[in-house]
Amino acid sequence: PMTEPNQLQTPHPMEAFIHGIPKAELHLHIEGALEPELMFELAAKNDIKLPYETVADIRQAYKFQDLQSFLDIYYQGAQVLIDEDDFYRLTWSYLKKAAEQNIRHTEIFFDPQTHTARGIQFETIVKGIHRALSDAGRQWGLSSRLIMCFLRHLSASEAMKTFKQALPFKNLITAVRLDSSELGFPPDKFRAVFDLARRNGFKVVAHAGEEGPAEYIWQALTLLKAARIDHGIRCVEDAGLVKYLVKKQVPLTVCPLSNVKLGVFDHLSRHNLHQLLELGLCVTVNSDDPAYFDGYIEDNFQALHEHLGIDFEDIYKLTRNAFQASFLAPAEKKKYLDELDGFVSGFGH
Ligand code: ADE
Ligand code: ZN
Repeated sequence: PMTEPNQLQTPHPMEAFIHGIPKAELHLHIEGALEPELMFELAAKNDIKLPYETVADIRQAYKFQDLQSFLDIYYQGAQVLIDEDDFYRLTWSYLKKAAEQNIRHTEIFFDPQTHTARGIQFETIVKGIHRALSDAGRQWGLSSRLIMCFLRHLSASEAMKTFKQALPFKNLITAVRLDSSELGFPPDKFRAVFDLARRNGFKVVAHAGEEGPAEYIWQALTLLKAARIDHGIRCVEDAGLVKYLVKKQVPLTVCPLSNVKLGVFDHLSRHNLHQLLELGLCVTVNSDDPAYFDGYIEDNFQALHEHLGIDFEDIYKLTRNAFQASFLAPAEKKKYLDELDGFVSGFGH
């Protein structure tokens, strides 16, 4: 039937629920939030030549076959970031979006090596990002944690060098983790730097089981002692691993639109999110690199609803898991969980 004109103005209850529910995001690469418009602006400001003429050209180039084809373009985009203010503006543009989408808490990743390799000081990066995080805390009460990544396609000694650069900023960085190309780069070779990081009070997270096999998830858990697994969707290939992850309630930070864009699933309707939930895993939903994958957190939930039929209960469970799985202190978690429950009971579906 035709939609009555007045119905067009009333948001669909599911859309309103997805928008309004207080959310936490635990898997967000700040360099992946660089929108083409800002990329152009910073390129002009810093006198950097981009291999694109227009914003439309950039979006056109965002067609990826796999993780590596994305990473090549993503590392190139990050070259426009030069001074502290550039890192501030990048972070602020994400936080503004996050606040609009009712993200109450976010844990963002940054890739220092992408920048230090170009001669940018570690301090410049951290200070710019951190200033934006503080401002968002003041302006919206949006809390955050900062997580530093080591690029796994680089050597263990490069990771160690980066770790040493980070030590003076220890109080601004909550956790360390691995990202970049997964296949052929098992967690094993980074044991020493992760041991040292844990001894210095850093928490540990790792990308594993995105493109790589279940064995990489085991390594991330047993060798690096990761408290959370990013992606982790391939855990279903190992029943023993699933059992372990369920028993320990190790959180998985799943990124549905990212998985489709990078060809991990050929369509969202084939994503295994339902299976992960049914197995009793602690699953969360996140946007990964929203500027590149065409969607922030709400878009991810909305697409999951459209293509996988996830319902109110599922969304409640997923957002609850995210606050539980965060690195917030227990009292802060409780504050957000109460806010979440208040929203859901007030929504009265
Ligand atoms: N760096 C940015 N996004 C990433 C992803 N999805 N996997 C691995 N490394 C990344
Ligand atoms: Zn990621």
